[in-house]
Amino acid sequence: MSTGLVLDGLVKRYGGSTAVQRMDLSVRPGELLALLGPSGCGKTTTLRMVAGFIEPTEGRIQLGGRDITTLPPHKRDAGMVFQSYALFPHLSVADNIAFGLRRRGVPRAEAAARVARMVSLLRLDGLEKRLPRQLSGGQQQRVAVGRALVINPAVVLLDEPFSNLDALLREGTRVELRRLQTELGLTTLFVTHDQAEAMAISDRIAVMNAGRLEQLGTPREVYDRPATRFVASFIGRANLFEATPQPAGPLRSEDGIALAPAASPAGPATLLLRPERIALEETPPVADEPNAVAGRVELASFLGTGTQLMLRLPGGRALSIEGPAAYADRFPAGTAATARWRAEDLIVIPGG
Ligand SMILES: Nc1ncnc2c1ncn2[C@@H]1O[C@H](COP(=O)(O)OP(=O)(O)OP(=O)(O)O)[C@@H](O)[C@H]1O
Ligand SMILES: [Mg+2]
Repeated sequence: MSTGLVLDGLVKRYGGSTAVQRMDLSVRPGELLALLGPSGCGKTTTLRMVAGFIEPTEGRIQLGGRDITTLPPHKRDAGMVFQSYALFPHLSVADNIAFGLRRRGVPRAEAAARVARMVSLLRLDGLEKRLPRQLSGGQQQRVAVGRALVINPAVVLLDEPFSNLDALLREGTRVELRRLQTELGLTTLFVTHDQAEAMAISDRIAVMNAGRLEQLGTPREVYDRPATRFVASFIGRANLFEATPQPAGPLRSEDGIALAPAASPAGPATLLLRPERIALEETPPVADEPNAVAGRVELASFLGTGTQLMLRLPGGRALSIEGPAAYADRFPAGTAATARWRAEDLIVIPGG
């Protein structure tokens, strides 16, 4: 019985600088967990420590209940796709995928069957005999994924595997990966800096910032209940308010907006309001009405499925709003409008 992948107090320092600071993280068996964060936050470093290409400064790594911290890469039972996917240029598609099976001494007939299955699952049919240079970027990335999965490893490590694909192919390919991963029950650590991609395919997301794990949760948890200001603004769009309790009446933001959340914080706090929670209306706010603010529409972009708007407030703030497609005609740029939201849509960020 596998116990998945466990990172225990993992640290990587380079001279005076710390690339990864005390990572504690468990990937459950069969789970797809995304490591998400901005460029340079330590995602690749973490993945390469798990793969065994970088030695941790401190901490332990366990895979399937076994301590693998000091094992060489080829003894770790990990299948990896690198950020710059490297295929063997002189080997065909089929031979690239078969590579790990050959090394493990899998009998020829069985290897051929497993490669054929990968080729079909990854929709590479007909390309088996081609060399990497005769493939598109997207096809090459799928070969790299096939090569990592075919060995049925205890853990699959993917470092931005779809970075070279255009948006449409990327969406299609990640759906296929998710289907494969679920079907084969593969424990997977998936690195990306694309929050939409992480939301779309993960069981859970580990949000990293500057070498640290800021929050670990399901896509819904990190979106609806971000633990920090960083998570709130990195996942999706965010309107953030620095709110201070007043001696009388509702909280006020730094720019004077009256805020009435469902449960008021005792002291100063950061409040999050998602753009799609805001309604735009023609009726101006009444005196002292909380959770309502008047402004002027500065930008209204029709996106087909909806409208993205920017409401400029008298205090200078630009409120980000996402509404129905009809908003584009109803509130064109230059229109005066009032933004309203419900008390329960104001989220108090604990780590402010
Ligand atoms: N060999 C090295 N020596 C010194 N510093 C390094 C080394 N490798 C990485 N770093 C630093 O460690 C930090 C984390 O790098 P890492 O490659 O893990 O980032 P990343 O999250 O994968 O970023 P990206 O999204 O751009 O791929 C960066 O600040 C980087 O400059
Ligand atoms: Mg990286």
